[in-house]
Amino acid sequence: MRSLIDILDLTVEEINELIDTANDIIANPKKYSEKCRGKKLATLFFEPSTRTRLSFEAAMYELGGSVMGFSEAQSSSAAKGESVADTAKTISCYADIIAMRHPKEGAPYVASINATIPVINAGDGGHNHPTQTLTDLLTIKREKGRFDNLTIGFCGDLKFGRTVHSLITALSRYNNIKVVLISPAELRLPSYVKKDVLEKNNMEYVETTDLESAMPDLDILYMTRVQRERFFNEEDYLRLKDSYILEPQKLKGAKADLSIMHPLPRVNEISVAIDDDPRACYFKQVLNGKFIRMALIMKLLEEAQK
Ligand code: CP
Repeated sequence: MRSLIDILDLTVEEINELIDTANDIIANPKKYSEKCRGKKLATLFFEPSTRTRLSFEAAMYELGGSVMGFSEAQSSSAAKGESVADTAKTISCYADIIAMRHPKEGAPYVASINATIPVINAGDGGHNHPTQTLTDLLTIKREKGRFDNLTIGFCGDLKFGRTVHSLITALSRYNNIKVVLISPAELRLPSYVKKDVLEKNNMEYVETTDLESAMPDLDILYMTRVQRERFFNEEDYLRLKDSYILEPQKLKGAKADLSIMHPLPRVNEISVAIDDDPRACYFKQVLNGKFIRMALIMKLLEEAQK
């Protein structure tokens, strides 16, 4: 059974097909309004979410399907001690496809090897978030028209930011990508991502703490929130949470066609004064997330029927 746990579960060609489908949905939404009639999506969210859960649900409704699920572990039998494996076997009796978010790294994978229906990883701990990556790739394609020859600055919590790990992994398959890692020393990109992704694929990268000096080189600035929920103590979070706050004056040296991205939610790291800047793409990302998830749901359900 085909699931999506890691962005590398999809080939570059399949990602291109999903992006083409998403663009076609954007252009011709009515064409897709009955594609999943009679199918049920289960959204199993053991961790909070606004965009991912509701965009999955909106995606399934717009495909003519229906949705069931829970938005917190406490309202499921996980609160009574049920395992992820048993939950996946159970939901396989009721639904056609699962989208699962879980605080433990690997939980959606465990679900996928126990389910008899496709499982989509909707974020597992500080590990991966492949559908956010698909969202980001669709946004990059629509904004920049290409995946090659880009300089991308990742700024903020690069240690716990799973969207950063997944997007860097996805970008490792394209040509001439330069990565600028902007973070406090304590929140640097994990060494396993540096070794297994950046270095293994000979990707050019630099690490810095200084956002403004990095700014002039960037085609894309990917801001991230400091992930409070992954910190072991509140003191460290409070010390680091406002390490970077993007305000209009910090864009002085930026390219005129910079794309400012953020997976959201934001806390303080992008001033609302940036929202009206034509370079701000983060609410476009939110909308793109629904379209690419529509394309993904259709693909996995079609493959499950084969
Ligand atoms: N980007 C993202 O995963 O947002 P949510 O946590 O609101 O789903």
